[in-house]
Amino acid sequence: MKDAQPSTIYLKDYQAPDYWIDTTHLTFDLHEDHTLVTAVLQMRLNEAVNCGEALPALTLHGEDLDLVSLHRDGEELENDRYQLVKGSLTLPVEQPRFQLQIVTRIRPQENTSLEGLYKSNGMFCTQCEAEGFRKITYYLDRPDVMSVFTTKVIASQARYPVLLANGNAIDRGELDNDRHYVTWEDPFKKPSYLFALVAGDLEYVEDHFTTMNGREVTLRLFTESHNIHKCDHAMISLKKSMKWDEDVYGREYDLDIFMIVAVDHFNMGAMENKGLNIFNSSCVLASPETATDATYQKIEAIVAHEYFHNWSGNRVTCRDWFQLSLKEGFTVFRDAEFSADMNSRGVKRIQDASVLRTAQFAEDAGPMAHPIRPESFIEISNFYTLTVYEKGCEVVRMIHTLLGADKFRKGTDLYFDRHDGEAATCEDFVKAMEDASGVDLTQFRNWYSQSGTPVVTVTDRYEAETGDYHLTIAQSCPATPGQEHKKPFHIPLGLALLDEQGQLLPLNAEGDKEQVLSIKQSEETFVFKGCKSKPLPSLLRNFSAPVRVRYDYSKDDLVFLMKHDTDSFNRWDACQRLGVMAIEQLVERFDEQAEQAVDSQLLDAFGVLIADPKLEHAVKAEMLCLPTEASLAEQAEVIKPLAIVAARKKVKQAIAETHSAALLALYNQLSHERDYCPEAADIAERTLKNVCLGYLAALDDAESLQRMAAQYNGASNMTDRRAALGCIVDARHRDEHLVEQVLTDFYDRYKDDANVMDGWFAVQSGSAELGTVEKVQALMQHDSFDPTSPNKLRSLIGGFTGNMARFHTTGGAGYEFLADRVIELDKQNPQVASRVMMPLTRWKKFEPVASGLMKKALQRIKAVHDLSTDVYEVVNKSL
Ligand code: PHE
Ligand code: ZN
Repeated sequence: MKDAQPSTIYLKDYQAPDYWIDTTHLTFDLHEDHTLVTAVLQMRLNEAVNCGEALPALTLHGEDLDLVSLHRDGEELENDRYQLVKGSLTLPVEQPRFQLQIVTRIRPQENTSLEGLYKSNGMFCTQCEAEGFRKITYYLDRPDVMSVFTTKVIASQARYPVLLANGNAIDRGELDNDRHYVTWEDPFKKPSYLFALVAGDLEYVEDHFTTMNGREVTLRLFTESHNIHKCDHAMISLKKSMKWDEDVYGREYDLDIFMIVAVDHFNMGAMENKGLNIFNSSCVLASPETATDATYQKIEAIVAHEYFHNWSGNRVTCRDWFQLSLKEGFTVFRDAEFSADMNSRGVKRIQDASVLRTAQFAEDAGPMAHPIRPESFIEISNFYTLTVYEKGCEVVRMIHTLLGADKFRKGTDLYFDRHDGEAATCEDFVKAMEDASGVDLTQFRNWYSQSGTPVVTVTDRYEAETGDYHLTIAQSCPATPGQEHKKPFHIPLGLALLDEQGQLLPLNAEGDKEQVLSIKQSEETFVFKGCKSKPLPSLLRNFSAPVRVRYDYSKDDLVFLMKHDTDSFNRWDACQRLGVMAIEQLVERFDEQAEQAVDSQLLDAFGVLIADPKLEHAVKAEMLCLPTEASLAEQAEVIKPLAIVAARKKVKQAIAETHSAALLALYNQLSHERDYCPEAADIAERTLKNVCLGYLAALDDAESLQRMAAQYNGASNMTDRRAALGCIVDARHRDEHLVEQVLTDFYDRYKDDANVMDGWFAVQSGSAELGTVEKVQALMQHDSFDPTSPNKLRSLIGGFTGNMARFHTTGGAGYEFLADRVIELDKQNPQVASRVMMPLTRWKKFEPVASGLMKKALQRIKAVHDLSTDVYEVVNKSL
């Protein structure tokens, strides 16, 4: 028998629902082997949709539910009065307004998908975005159906002393048999995906925030008692976020209480449920001994992101899931600007642009490419992507750039004002921006409907007689699945011109030295007057648009920009381009086996960089990092994994050898004892110091081994310890024994801390030296490995698939291993299965042997019966 094929859902088919749900009363009776859910729904006909005589039947979503009973206006409907098919319940309707009472039985203890109601470390919790609420009860589980929720949670008092749901607690009491209950009421209408419930044995830290209009808000952060000392940073971040959203957007919090709960088993980073955010514990818990600087910064950003959703997502939500970027792109932009204000703006921009160019560009060039507002999908969970989030953020940023900060703020005010309490669309957002600013965004809308990364090709000509400098800018965009031809985009292109002394030239009569060109044609030419010699263009300053820029920079040009450009992003980018050139040169001749010299201009430039006394530590650290293997792969025509790994390693080694004395001096200068503080200046020093350590490690001598061991043993914080651990593992060929010793030491220190252990798994599976298929297989059997934890799976499997030296060089064993895991995981947790398989979908870009083997692994997955919609969609689109 042939499997039923999952169907595709189209944006063009959107229809408003036949019925609304005005109020939703839920009662959860939580037990050890099942939960009874009683839903009482006040239903109302959507007058706008229905003009015919007979009332349409009502179809509710529902998955993996046992229907216990169904009443309509008090009358029980027996099973011959309704239809139950996979995924839905349909019943007849006789009145335009009616009440439904639905009782379902669910089994959270057996729910391994981590969608709906499930258990994590003994506590009950929910995850409903995007379509998880239908695993709790039958409902109109779509974001345009917004309802006022009341939730009563009943459970054993001893096991689950803390009972939480959205909104404010309005009632609580004790029942027989050690049971108790709490009733919560959320006065704001919301779609079901924002529903949340938690029941567990939790402790909390509490703080307070007074809003700009004097409202007192209680802030609580809940976690298991052994982690209660790790909540401070998240709490500080929360208060900063609340203040920032008032200052920058005029947005105030609206309930009496704001809660965050940390859970270990979670498919994503965190979730913005109204008044009750649920976080992956890895995105909220931190102490200096257990969290790196990067983790501290991630926590600050994610706490802010989820908090900001209260307006951009909750008060104004999405009409349908095609509009996902409406809330995500905008909210990522909000959190990025927040982080830029809290830390180094230049570095934040470099880091974000780097992720975008490496991972989002790859996505946009692969088989799953989609516009930030997709036109169709099979499984919405597959569209929580870098494109919807990060490119979506860049699109909002471009609007900010084109309008300027003041008009942008007028636009967001109008948007929130117009659509408060509504489910809106991306079009509503753009329209509000236009209406508030008077700026025409007609052509700009192509960013919402077209996928693929535009290529901007810049050529120039200087006329010595007139002093005119002609800059010709052409744009194109490669074909992507379903989109052969593209219309030109409206691209804001940041520009400056440098003269021979490295000074910025005035670009117009007003004397502006920086400009944002509004590019709209497939080709257009700009003329700048009065140039005494041929200027050097600084293009796409501050990464003003998510595009690739092609300009024929010589190495001398790049070295010049590294020194003189005033834009941090472009200084960094010049450095990256130089690195890419040097590495690609070695990659091209890799097969010849002959000794190749490393580009001397690059080596000289790095010498200047290391010694530069004026450069901000944080920017220097970013500039000193060679392009990652992933970014080299993204930029390659055909990916040759072994050559990339070897060439990059060689360049790194050459830099270390040429500048060992300066690197050591810098390392020593930055190594001094002090109390840990996760502030930007301290983080920058540690980052730069550990970049130096990484180079010194490449020297591959006894002295550097000792230095790494000393840093490992003497570390007073996780940042320094993890950095040293990584270096030691990479040096395994020199001292296997030391590697075993520190890995054991690390294990003994942190074995009880699940979040730190994630790092222990990742450092091994991700190591070029250690991360063999056999090693990864052995680690999967390790006592500390929890195969039901997405964090563990991501660390171990994700670490391995990102390990270019190992994953791609095993004659296909790595691919087969991954295919086995995907097939196995698909039964347990389809979302995680479909995510970990992503690296295979890039098979077309690899050199022939690897490519064929990757394809074979995909074909084996495709042949499996009863694949989830998640894996089905990815595998079918990529073959
Ligand atoms: N909406 C969440 C966020 O971006 C992400 C998320 C999606 C979490 C789906 C869980 C499930 O903040
Ligand atoms: Zn979000």
